[in-house]
Amino acid sequence: MTRVMMMFFVALTMALAVPAIAAEPSSEYRESFNDGWLFHNGEAPGAEASDFDDSQWRPQDLPHDWAIEGPFDIKYNARCGGLPFHGTGWYRKTFDTPAGSKGKAVLVTFDGAMYDAHVWVNGQFVGNRPYGYIEFQFDISKYLNDEGANTIAVRLTPEDLSSRWYPGAGIYRNVWIDVRNPVRVDQWGTFVTTPQVTDQAATVSVETTLTGDLTGADVQVKYEVFDPNGKVVATSTKPAAEKTSTQLTVNDPMRWDIESPHLYRLKTTVLSGEETLDVVQSRFGIRTLEFSKDKGFALNGKHTRIQGVCLHHDNGPLGAIVNRRAIERKLQIMKQMGVNSVRTSHNPPSNELLDLCDEMGILVQVEAFDVWMKAKVPNGYNKFFEEWAERDIKDMVRRDRNHPSVFMWSIGNEILEQASKEDGNRIAKQLNDYVKSLDTTRPTTCGFNWYPGPYATGMAGQVDIAGMNYKPLAYGDPVNAYLPNNPVVGSETSSCTSSRGVYHLPIEKYQTHESKQVTSYDIIGPPWAYPPDIEFDALEKHPEILGEYVWTGFDYLGEPTPYGGKDNNTNGYWNEDWPSRSSYFGAVDLCGFPKDRFYLYQSQWTEEPMVHVLPHWNWENTGHDTIPVIAYSNCDEVELFVNGESAGRRIKGKDLTKIPVKFNRYEKDHLMSKYRMSWDVPFAPGSLRVVGYLDGKPVAEKEIKTAGAPARVKLTPDREELAADGSDLSYVTVRIEDAEGNFCPLASNLVRFTVDGAGTIAAVGNGNAATTAPFIANQREAFNGLCMLIIKSAKHAGEITIRAESDGLQADHASIDAK
Ligand code: GAL
Repeated sequence: MTRVMMMFFVALTMALAVPAIAAEPSSEYRESFNDGWLFHNGEAPGAEASDFDDSQWRPQDLPHDWAIEGPFDIKYNARCGGLPFHGTGWYRKTFDTPAGSKGKAVLVTFDGAMYDAHVWVNGQFVGNRPYGYIEFQFDISKYLNDEGANTIAVRLTPEDLSSRWYPGAGIYRNVWIDVRNPVRVDQWGTFVTTPQVTDQAATVSVETTLTGDLTGADVQVKYEVFDPNGKVVATSTKPAAEKTSTQLTVNDPMRWDIESPHLYRLKTTVLSGEETLDVVQSRFGIRTLEFSKDKGFALNGKHTRIQGVCLHHDNGPLGAIVNRRAIERKLQIMKQMGVNSVRTSHNPPSNELLDLCDEMGILVQVEAFDVWMKAKVPNGYNKFFEEWAERDIKDMVRRDRNHPSVFMWSIGNEILEQASKEDGNRIAKQLNDYVKSLDTTRPTTCGFNWYPGPYATGMAGQVDIAGMNYKPLAYGDPVNAYLPNNPVVGSETSSCTSSRGVYHLPIEKYQTHESKQVTSYDIIGPPWAYPPDIEFDALEKHPEILGEYVWTGFDYLGEPTPYGGKDNNTNGYWNEDWPSRSSYFGAVDLCGFPKDRFYLYQSQWTEEPMVHVLPHWNWENTGHDTIPVIAYSNCDEVELFVNGESAGRRIKGKDLTKIPVKFNRYEKDHLMSKYRMSWDVPFAPGSLRVVGYLDGKPVAEKEIKTAGAPARVKLTPDREELAADGSDLSYVTVRIEDAEGNFCPLASNLVRFTVDGAGTIAAVGNGNAATTAPFIANQREAFNGLCMLIIKSAKHAGEITIRAESDGLQADHASIDAK
């Protein structure tokens, strides 16, 4: 085999050009099934029956996560967010038999339900689906009454000790109903690829899987390709077969790329003579992927380093609830950091995330599982693996294989079968084969955290690309000795921890701190973790490595490492450092406020000149003569001014900063980092100002001032206009300022909110990982000067007025227009 491997020339995807409509089939036959449900938290024997008395149940529109309502309690597991996610939850909904559905298929699609969903219609059992992250669909037509009311009932039973993080609880993704012809495109029945792409033309290859009785009928399938401007650029019509395929040519194709993610749309119409039986819209993109052992990754022929982040599925204070705007904002913040790729650790993502990545030009590694047969926690997915894994991973690939953003399939993360040559190889091969049976246009990967274990046994060679978790020192010769041919990616890196705005002096390594916070000097992590600098350095030395996926972009609920008292592999409760209940790993906190690390990545991953300085400049009685001041910048040189006086210039890459380092296999106890510039300066109230220079010219600057006492609250909505659709969000930053308008970096004032008009409070938060203050509330304490108010639009237009008050501070108000 040559060392240059795997060329994946492809294109892809699905859904309408209208971004708000996500899942395929996106057609006139699909409607939201989210409204008008009733919810009951707890057991409800007999609740599947049509005539069950649900009059005391609470009205609940979907998507919904019952656990995020809290309360946080030490009787729950901090590893899973310290929230009541386990138990039984029931949903019921009464709906009329859809008009015109006689003789049709009535399909109900759950984009995801947490966990082990069982579904009944009119008292009859329809089916179940254990995995909470997978989309599933039932044809319920045979259970429906000919006309009038029907009842659908859903029981969910998320179990305690079933997850290593906060999974959420409830029907937390969208639900749809379709009334379709019995002869139609099957669920995820459209597969679009682009086997040949040049600047002049792209071949668009389509395979359509039809369902229904085609015998004797004169059925045809008509294909139309629309370019990004909505113009038809290719058409073809084929006689229908169970598998119908066609090839179309698109001239002068506009590429799907990171900078300009052009999207095409395929319209598939199933016709019987003049009659339209079915229409399906599938979005796709035209792009090429190349993965090479020696040269790394190229998108459309251009070498592209993966600047990736691992992301869990939760949306911080909103919980696991899927919300397009929440995900869009998360991705926007990640893009500002310089991110070009996301790993959906460690499960299939929402449709919304993939639609947004298609639209925003973000590459996605879609991951199937965190566990196979061997348990990581007592009640994990391993219980279902044998019966469901094939179905789950194949459904994942079928659902997502038209997305141009999806460029790698991961069959697992840190799977414990790494310890077993036989099981590891067998299951990895099996899962790899399942993926390849449905898509050979993208490579497979898997995140391995043991070394050399899975490399020596051959397990790592079962997938196309070896994902190395936390092994920067093994890049190059060490791993190549085992894997001479397969490209390698840093599938999980760094795992540095920090709390926004917290600085502990002096800069030193510790495991935990009595404050239950972690210093933001960006040096602390669990034993397998290391500062971002180590990975940057390893990647510089090994340009053939595809890139990295930082653990993590955003903080997430649960896994409060280094607190909790347990390491990553132990099974039980993690409550030794209660109330630490959410992660410290993020470069950005749970509310979306950047921590210092955000800027460290930005300094490495972006080109627009930037400079950042830390810590804050509000010290008192430190007991230290000097304060370490650090700058992160992508400029050549940075100059620090303390109270207007220059403290000197530092040259990036030449003036090094010593940072303590200690992690498995690292031989020294420090690193001389070329990614940080530093000064030790005595504290005197005033300001810190940094200026970044390129070729000797000032191009970027940042100043932080010593703040006086908190004097006022300042509200800044990220969006002043919302869609009046009942789900759009405005994230309102709440900042505590002194009388001059300076940011108060240590303020913890409690702020109370009053919201009126065409919107409500969706949640509040402040990024503090160690508090039991509820997310669903009308007040919040600032954490190091900031808190967040998340406003959700109502379903009617109008003004939303917000007032924020805090004892002894000047109040503020803001207004948002819902249209
Ligand atoms: C990894 C694991 C992640 C997370 C991380 C924390 O080993 O894959 O899910 O637990 O450690 O550092």
